[in-house]
Amino acid sequence: MSTIDEYQGKEVTIYFNPEKCIHAGVCVQTLPNVFRVNVKGPWIAPDNADAEDISALAHNCPSGAITYKRHDKDKQELPPFVNLIKVLENGPLAFLADLEVENSEPLIRATLCRCGASKNKPFCDGKHNEAGFYATGEYDITETKPMPQHAGKLAVTLLKDGPLLCKGNMEVCSGTGKRLNSTKEAALCRCGASKDKPYCDGSHVGIGFTTG
Ligand code: FES
Repeated sequence: MSTIDEYQGKEVTIYFNPEKCIHAGVCVQTLPNVFRVNVKGPWIAPDNADAEDISALAHNCPSGAITYKRHDKDKQELPPFVNLIKVLENGPLAFLADLEVENSEPLIRATLCRCGASKNKPFCDGKHNEAGFYATGEYDITETKPMPQHAGKLAVTLLKDGPLLCKGNMEVCSGTGKRLNSTKEAALCRCGASKDKPYCDGSHVGIGFTTG
């Protein structure tokens, strides 16, 4: 289980999980008074902005490294109405869903590795940059029927030495948000070698991919 840093304020407590951070920069760019770079001591100051603004910022943190607890109890983050998986250009799969990743606590936002290089699998740790992972986030749209339900639990099973098996209502989207596929089951490549990205095509066997 990873270490989560806690920063308690008057109206909101902010949690930061450094192992999940992919350095998207949303926090330091949006609320630099709260998420302060190059300071001595605690770098997160929850009382330097409204709880509403901090909540909105956390909802935009793709990796889920930033989460929060509002002290007014009816204002906690809720799962989305539509479970989304965005395929990020040269990067991970960004989930926004009522998410149950095997061996992990319940999540709403998470970035899962799709290049195979992360040392923190199934989560992305930014190693795709070092690994020179090159893969578009734009793919052909699959013909799918509209689904009556878009929400509910989305379970991700980590197949050994193989893909992420996702089961539940989901929309797979391009990195720019174009809907590619509405489905209830998808095996998503996490070795980086599939010729049918973002889906697994069995190439993990040929490259000897291991998940450790
Ligand atoms: S996990 Fe990449 S091809 Fe199967």
